[in-house]
Amino acid sequence: MSQTLTNPTVHPAWLRATHWLNVLAVLVMVMSGWQIYNASPIFPFSFPRSITLGGWLGGALLWHFAAMWVLALNGLIYLAWNIGSGRFRRQMFPLTPRAVLRDLVDALRGRLSHANLSQYNAVQKAAYLFVIADLVLLVLSGLVVFKPVQFPLLRTLMGDFDNARIVHFVAMALVVLIVAVHVAMVALVPKTFPTMITGKARRAS
Ligand code: HEM
Repeated sequence: MSQTLTNPTVHPAWLRATHWLNVLAVLVMVMSGWQIYNASPIFPFSFPRSITLGGWLGGALLWHFAAMWVLALNGLIYLAWNIGSGRFRRQMFPLTPRAVLRDLVDALRGRLSHANLSQYNAVQKAAYLFVIADLVLLVLSGLVVFKPVQFPLLRTLMGDFDNARIVHFVAMALVVLIVAVHVAMVALVPKTFPTMITGKARRAS
């Protein structure tokens, strides 16, 4: 007879808290960012008003600057806790291009195992590392756009102010793209979702 057992904690509380706070911060940052972009578009298009936040440039800037602190401080807590506890190294490494390719092929063939939720597959590891690095780039390029005079080294590294706006936009677009794929993957393997809320994996035996 099938019986449901509860496993030990898969995702610790600090990880779940920082993950969901990050989701909220990213949502507010992206939607208010689109409203700010609309006031002075870099490319020949604007974002529909219905998917922006803030109502107008001033309102959107207030949302953007408020959520900026949440995103940056929450991100620092996540990185410090993750790296300091050794979890980052254990969860994300080892990682090789060969393993990413192998798991990608297995995933496309529907052969990837999702039995053990406490271990990420190589495609997940690569995607998570990429989105973390991209968020760091998003914050750094945001600092240049926010205070170009105060961050001359960063500004030069980004190729000056106008280029930093493009870097900021491209980094945003990549986050949106990865998150769309990430949420689609969660929908395909729905048992990962409650685990990111309760921390526990349920398995049938
Ligand atoms: C509604 C939107 C989201 C949902 C439903 C969601 C869900 C999840 C779930 C279920 C996991 C665990 C995956 C597993 O155990 O196999 C996870 C991990 C992760 N998610 Fe999300 N997520 C969302 C948005 C985001 C966003 C916006 C970001 C970043 C921009 C993000 C970044 C990550 C990262 C980096 C991990 C791995 C964390 C770690 O183990 O250190 N997620 N997410």
